[in-house]
Amino acid sequence: MKPYGISWEEYIKLEESKRAQYLNDKGKIYDVIFSQQYDKSFLDEIYILTNKIRLISKTREGQRFLKNLLGTKKALLYFIQPSSRTFLSFFSACATLGIACTDIRSTEISSESKGESPEDTIRTFSSYFDAIIMRHPEEGYAEKASFVLNNYSRRPIPIINAGSGKDQHPTQALLDIFTLQKSLGKIGGVDGKTIMFVGDLKRGRTVRSLSYLLGNFKNVKFIFCAPEGYQMEKDIVDYLKERQYEVVVTSDMKKYLSDADAVYMTRLQDEYDKVKGESSLYNTSDFSLGLHNINLVKPSAFIMHPLPRRSEISTDIDKDPRALYWRQMRNGMWTRAALLAYIFGVDTEIIQY
Ligand code: NCD
Repeated sequence: MKPYGISWEEYIKLEESKRAQYLNDKGKIYDVIFSQQYDKSFLDEIYILTNKIRLISKTREGQRFLKNLLGTKKALLYFIQPSSRTFLSFFSACATLGIACTDIRSTEISSESKGESPEDTIRTFSSYFDAIIMRHPEEGYAEKASFVLNNYSRRPIPIINAGSGKDQHPTQALLDIFTLQKSLGKIGGVDGKTIMFVGDLKRGRTVRSLSYLLGNFKNVKFIFCAPEGYQMEKDIVDYLKERQYEVVVTSDMKKYLSDADAVYMTRLQDEYDKVKGESSLYNTSDFSLGLHNINLVKPSAFIMHPLPRRSEISTDIDKDPRALYWRQMRNGMWTRAALLAYIFGVDTEIIQY
């Protein structure tokens, strides 16, 4: 990676489309920071790769082939915010491709607790690994880390954002679209569909990244359904409206549920409360799916959730053939393996297998 020739302050003021170019190397995505980096042709490519990896993994011989691809690579899973699925699916994706992994899951056990700056910490990590997959409570931290390495380090390595505070979760969006495309495939794919998002949309990073990514498809209608005070932020609504998408912002779940081709449920994100008990007035029952309202969901529609769930989806729904959330989880492992294969440049080899 070449230094950008501009300061962090100048860089961060640029629009995402411009910043995305700095995050590429030789025309390919190098750092994975926000989902506006992915375009339709990238999605098509990565999903062909995802399907191929899944298929190859079905045989012992195939598993051995995959495991030999990246046996010289090492990745650090730097996850200082809680995670089960994202962490384990990345771990498993690395194992599939033979990438050796270790993890840091708390700043208490790294030298940050001795007062080391975040910049020095990241540069230190980059000395020992070939990629950093990171989840951090601070918005923009992953992007700053990529800036630091690309501009100041003699040995830059790719940064993959596995969740940056309330802001973005670009690899979750990748698996969400993969799941949607597969499921909606029989009825014409994602184009022209109505996607309803329900829950704490203000602080849910998965809905933000997925909304941006849906901006790669034609005539998608967005229904953002959240309690007052938890509604989708204006930046996303404006982004979609500027691109001529129809956007409904509502608190009335019952009114719109039967319009949706996919219902993307989310939980209350109260870990971001600024004062304790701030979210106590959030009424989950008005923003939940269960036996009381499942009959309003179209027979052809799908129910998604990034998980973990609380009570916003009743376990009564789990056996419903429209429930996709367990499949989403497994798809995460395959799409992340594809992403790593792409970043480390073994995609062609996999396709040719
Ligand atoms: C999500 C996250 O961490 O943003 N979980 C995940 O990665 N699957 C959703 C959440 O925590 O609510």
